[in-house]
Amino acid sequence: MSKKTFYITTPIYYPSDKLHIGHAYTTVAADAITRYKRMNGYDAFFLTGTDEHGQKIARKAAERGITPKEYVDEIVSWIKNLWSELRISNNEFIRTTDERHYRVVQHVFQTIYEKGDIYKSEYEGWYCTPCETFWTERQLEEGNCCPDCNRPTEKMKEESYFFKMSKYADQWLEFIEENPDFIQPESRRNEMINFVKSGLEDLCVSRSSLKWGVPVPIDQGHVIYVWFDALSNYLTGIKYLEDDEFFNKYWPADLHLVGKEIMRFHTIQWPIMLMSMGLPLPKKVFGHGWLVMKDGKMSKSKGNVVDPLVLKQDFGLDAIRYYLLREMSFGADGSYSTESLIGRINSDLANDLGNLLNRTIAMVQKYFGGTIPEIGSATDFDQELQAVAAAVVQSMEKSMEELQMNVALEELWNLVRRANKYIDETQPWILAKDETKKPILGTVLYHLCEALRIIGVALKPFLVETAEKMGEQLGIGEKMDAAQWSETRWGLLQPGTQVKSSVEPIFPRIDLEEYFAQKASDKESKPVESKKKEKKEEKDLITFDQFQKLDLRVAEILEAEAVKGSNKLLKVQVEIGEERRQLVAGIAKHYDPEELVGKKVIMVYNMKPAKIFGVESNGMILAGSTADDILAVSALDKDLPSGSRVK
Ligand code: ME8
Ligand code: MG
Repeated sequence: MSKKTFYITTPIYYPSDKLHIGHAYTTVAADAITRYKRMNGYDAFFLTGTDEHGQKIARKAAERGITPKEYVDEIVSWIKNLWSELRISNNEFIRTTDERHYRVVQHVFQTIYEKGDIYKSEYEGWYCTPCETFWTERQLEEGNCCPDCNRPTEKMKEESYFFKMSKYADQWLEFIEENPDFIQPESRRNEMINFVKSGLEDLCVSRSSLKWGVPVPIDQGHVIYVWFDALSNYLTGIKYLEDDEFFNKYWPADLHLVGKEIMRFHTIQWPIMLMSMGLPLPKKVFGHGWLVMKDGKMSKSKGNVVDPLVLKQDFGLDAIRYYLLREMSFGADGSYSTESLIGRINSDLANDLGNLLNRTIAMVQKYFGGTIPEIGSATDFDQELQAVAAAVVQSMEKSMEELQMNVALEELWNLVRRANKYIDETQPWILAKDETKKPILGTVLYHLCEALRIIGVALKPFLVETAEKMGEQLGIGEKMDAAQWSETRWGLLQPGTQVKSSVEPIFPRIDLEEYFAQKASDKESKPVESKKKEKKEEKDLITFDQFQKLDLRVAEILEAEAVKGSNKLLKVQVEIGEERRQLVAGIAKHYDPEELVGKKVIMVYNMKPAKIFGVESNGMILAGSTADDILAVSALDKDLPSGSRVK
């Protein structure tokens, strides 16, 4: 039998600026749902991409004096990299500037036109460029502002094609009545019903004053309205007009996941386009809330955006994925703050989960030489731990069906906390003192390892790296990678498995004050740097004599290891000719210690000694980096003996 399919999409993002953590929220949520479905045997197809036409992009490009395509190309590659950094498991990335998409959009337009649902007229009204939305005068807020984003709209008058949406109002209401689950959550459903009941107007679907878009097939002087274009991506992404078998396998979509401000497009305009075309409608549109900051919704125009890549660098990928999925009740708005992020890291990740793993692995090592023991004699607490594990898995399944990721994670932490409590109840360190209690001790440690294995499997949709690390430490790396959701059941761990300890805790604790102090000092030094850059040409040029003061040398790396308590720093031993030195380098995120050994690098030899994180450092390794944080240690293109001077 062929697998059940699940087709899930995120909105396609405007590549008008780099994306922020609010955008990442939609995508990470979709990723968790997709991974969960895949673990449950579904052939899940996950589509995301970029929405590259429209007035907003055209203007941005004009401001920069480049073509729209040049403008978007740069940001799109940044976005693709962002998703790979966040381990997003999309099957396809659609760009609306793709050739194949032009064909689809024009076909959609043509089909609806031939159906008699598109007519030519003149548009007179208002336009919100940030939202790419048409508004009538009566819909505007005070000061002619957009009712969605509150920014000023512009008056517009031009020849346009219109889509007869009004014709479908009754059919739409009927559909919604018959498919109560189509719009989720419930509150948004009522909002949409009211919108349609208050009178659905025909929609302007072309622009004649704009060039940046897909040409209207029947009238080359017009381009197709960007939302009409964008929504069609959900067809292009699964090979509409390209491969019928493929398309029919996945269409209709099972879930369009979108932010609440674009529900109207997805639950009214999109279904009506499909009705007109005679295509089946998607099964569900879920509208999630916003990530808000102290001063409102995170947005570029407010200047309160948080860069997901900076957060990843500061806290690690899974800390962010956990925070986004756990902290926000899915469907409602949630507030973002660095304080609450650090709070979650310290309590849930470092304390609850990290400690459970550390303590357990350390005890297996200490008492059983690293081998997971057989189950010996039972304790009073075993049954309860097993029962909690089973109940947690079951309620996680229910929560995931309802797309309540935060509840699913909350449930899972009941098991994490129960397992920690089991340690306190069984007191393995006391059992270990009495040789006759060894069978009980074995049972206890088996139970802890098995609970950890189940936690790891259940974490796979959410915390991708953590599940992998837990698998590795439990000595079941490959099994963990391949594990299906059904493997959350008790008893699959093989006694005799060798555990591996790791020097670094999976989630180091973060000191809130230290973190903010560090950020403040980074900020202070930044403006100085950029000022320097500006003036470099005139004032800050150095003389040859000044350069001569720098003593640069070739150094060979002999040893490298992590600096305790830091995830950025490595302690490195180098050889410079006859001499050996120790120094600290901030390259731990970019190099594994082993991969550095034997490398020849260029170092500053006459650097004042310093103590960094309590470690003596004599010298500095030169490395190149980009704003996007790719880092490479300097190297020479011919092999020179260590100690050689670099001039
Ligand atoms: O709307 N909190 O693209 P977009 C939560 N191109 N989600 C947020 C957010 C925040 N602070 N800020 C943005 C578009 N988002 C169209 C879509 S689909 C056919 C075309 C979410 O780049 C937002 O809710 O403005 C939306 O789901 C997504 O980011 C894309 O936003
Ligand atoms: Mg938007």
